[in-house]
Amino acid sequence: MTPRPVAIVPAAGRGVRMGADKALLELAGATAIERVVQSCRDAGVADVLVVRREGAEPLPEGLGAQVVRVPAGGEMADSLRAAERALPADAGVVVVFPVDHALVAADTVLAGVAAVLQGAGVALPLFRGKPGHPVAFSRAVFAEIQNAGAVLRDLVRREPARVRALPSANPWVLADLDRPEDHRAAVCALHAGPLPTVAQMFAHRSRRAYAPTPVPKAQLERLVDAARHASTSSWLQAYSVVLVQDAEQKGACARLCSGQSHIVQAPVFAAVCADLRKLAAACGRHGATLQTQSLELFLQAVVDAALLGQNLQLAAEAEGLGACMIGAARNHPIELAQLLDLPPGCFALFGMTIGVPTDDPVPRGRMPLPGVLHWERYDHAAVDPALDGTDAVIRAWAARTNAERGGYGGKPVNLDKGWTERIAAAWGEGSSYLAARQTLADELQRLGFGLG
Ligand SMILES: Cc1cc2nc3c(=O)[nH]c(=O)nc-3n(C[C@H](O)[C@H](O)[C@H](O)COP(=O)(O)O)c2cc1C
Repeated sequence: MTPRPVAIVPAAGRGVRMGADKALLELAGATAIERVVQSCRDAGVADVLVVRREGAEPLPEGLGAQVVRVPAGGEMADSLRAAERALPADAGVVVVFPVDHALVAADTVLAGVAAVLQGAGVALPLFRGKPGHPVAFSRAVFAEIQNAGAVLRDLVRREPARVRALPSANPWVLADLDRPEDHRAAVCALHAGPLPTVAQMFAHRSRRAYAPTPVPKAQLERLVDAARHASTSSWLQAYSVVLVQDAEQKGACARLCSGQSHIVQAPVFAAVCADLRKLAAACGRHGATLQTQSLELFLQAVVDAALLGQNLQLAAEAEGLGACMIGAARNHPIELAQLLDLPPGCFALFGMTIGVPTDDPVPRGRMPLPGVLHWERYDHAAVDPALDGTDAVIRAWAARTNAERGGYGGKPVNLDKGWTERIAAAWGEGSSYLAARQTLADELQRLGFGLG
């Protein structure tokens, strides 16, 4: 007869750093403990013992797991000892699955159980070579937890020969739910698409057509929350985001942003603002006056807001949405500030359309890397080849766009015009950007930013 696999879920801690009972954390429609029990079930481990401290909140109804009670304030090893005593006599494989690793799926559990059934004393999941959870033990090895002073680590480390390492692709084998930020990151991860972060960066395309499907408020909150965890100059957090969903308000934003139709079409227009308002208030609390007439402070706020904005676009893309930054938000900064009721010391650095994308643009590609990446000192000789390379990149994009999409915005793209020619037109003497933003410095001054 195959030895019976049993899972032990230590969930007796108070979750002090989390500020909540981890077993009951909501993770995209199920609590952490429900996810753990489901992963066990999916792996064929029907018996689950959940260790809870006396007085802990009840577990969700219908969980179908046995609860083992331990006194409050004990260590993880105390929980494991109590659970070991409660194991059924015929338990042959013991999977220790801390509730902190609730995003680990059945495949990892299944692999652990299989390794022990094949003779391993310990089956240890690894993510990129680093050990994590859940760990599966033979019954005999797990019984060593009753040795005086034993902790789980001892069982794993005592005899390397009895340990079978099991590489896993799931990062949550290693990462755990410890702080509120981990919880929010886990929720984001459960909503994210399949690409890891860096692959997602390479998949970026600005999207300019959207379905009318609304983006739920909870999702927008999640994305902005994640985005604001970008680095911030001296912890200033000199930014704000105003999300506009109301059609009339969005239409007014679009009119101030050169009438770009995708602002009207997208369900959300985000104004990503450099914002000194909270810094001024902080100074005011301590009898100080924020030195707003500072180019350095202006740059810090702009950099902070830009980093948040980039993170926001990346987070939206990771969740399968599309976005496009809108620099045209600086065409009429005062009128846009008035429309959005921005306080003094706050302006929309750029906007962003966000929604479910319906277009499929040919990726624009980028300049050859040597034009951007230099080693030890700037490689001046790299500039000319970079320009040639970028001309070639844009021509290849134009050719593909014409051949595969019938042109851009309904018109064929001029195949003769390279990147260098476009830059000369955009930012040479006849620059339309320059013309449109001639009064920008003055407008920023009026909005409370100093550039001197
Ligand atoms: C700060 C900023 C402002 C932008 N403003 C606009 C805009 O107003 N309208 C627009 O359609 N695209 C805008 N874009 C998108 C760029 O045109 C786009 O990123 C660039 O052409 C490269 O294309 P890709 O993002 O698809 O790779 C903006 C991008 C940035 C970073």
